[in-house]
Amino acid sequence: MPAMNRLNLSRTILSLLLEAFPGSVSGEKIGATGGVSRVAVWKEVRKLQDLGFPIVASRLGYRLASIPDRFDPDFLEPYLERDVPGIRVVYREEVDSTSTLLRALAEEGAPEGTLCIAERQTRGRGRRGRSWFSLPGKSLTFSFLLRPLLSPSFCASCTLLAGIALAEALEGLGFSPVLKWPNDVLLGGKKVAGILLETATDLDEVSWMVLGVGVNVNLERRDLTPLPFQATSLLFEGGVPVLRVEVLRRFLACFLAAYRRWKEEGDFSPWVADYNRRLAFLGRSVTIVGGKSPVSGTALGVDGSGALRVMEGEKERRITWGEIA
Ligand code: BTN
Repeated sequence: MPAMNRLNLSRTILSLLLEAFPGSVSGEKIGATGGVSRVAVWKEVRKLQDLGFPIVASRLGYRLASIPDRFDPDFLEPYLERDVPGIRVVYREEVDSTSTLLRALAEEGAPEGTLCIAERQTRGRGRRGRSWFSLPGKSLTFSFLLRPLLSPSFCASCTLLAGIALAEALEGLGFSPVLKWPNDVLLGGKKVAGILLETATDLDEVSWMVLGVGVNVNLERRDLTPLPFQATSLLFEGGVPVLRVEVLRRFLACFLAAYRRWKEEGDFSPWVADYNRRLAFLGRSVTIVGGKSPVSGTALGVDGSGALRVMEGEKERRITWGEIA
């Protein structure tokens, strides 16, 4: 069978199994949908099993024993399709950085909604020149391409929007995260996820934004101890493994719903209360680093542009750069 057909058949099989999950689909139905014989279906299922997909055969046909925690586009695109249709997945088993790759794809004209995801990053990047640590099979590392027709100064608030979406996704899984301005997600006072927003401008408009997200999903205690800052994981906090694809699906659903409105209205104000409700250190002393000199004062929350309001002595300041130390 030509490679192209095989690819489509894998996707057809995985889509039907996902739709039926945890139930079964007959070989006959898969064959009819894919336009191939039942023997061809069986052969393709064997290949998918060899790749590690947990497909079980029985007299009822085929079924998924569990939802695979994998990023192959033939699985991930159908998995995301129901909640977030139209996401185009670019998957690499290994890449230097999903954000670096997606920036290059953006320059080549990749459309909004392109998702670049990898099992392993060899040079994951964090904010302010830091590196981002992740482990294959345990971490969720992806970058998402956005092309809002808005001014670059306004677009900085997109990083806060992503923070809220990540928090909502984790809340949906039973966690109680808080946000450390501008874009760290904390659980139990430790960092569980980070966001890196990179923007290219053309005259006074954004030409692309690459939203890079790293989540410590199933890292174990021993994986976390070498990290230079206090880090945690969903597994460590919740005590049970979490499906990375589910974190991704929930994040994209929350983020895209907000992003569409944000892009249309060109205003972050509707999310100020959502952000401040989850803001770590609200009403407490903070130091903002990353600018010429640090600023210390009481955190008053973000304003309608996403800037952090800080009371420094008697004076309120609007901070648009740096991060809470
Ligand atoms: C930070 O907290 O400093 C931001 C971390 C962002 C890490 C993610 S992982 C996926 C994407 N690719 C990268 O190289 N970085 C971002």
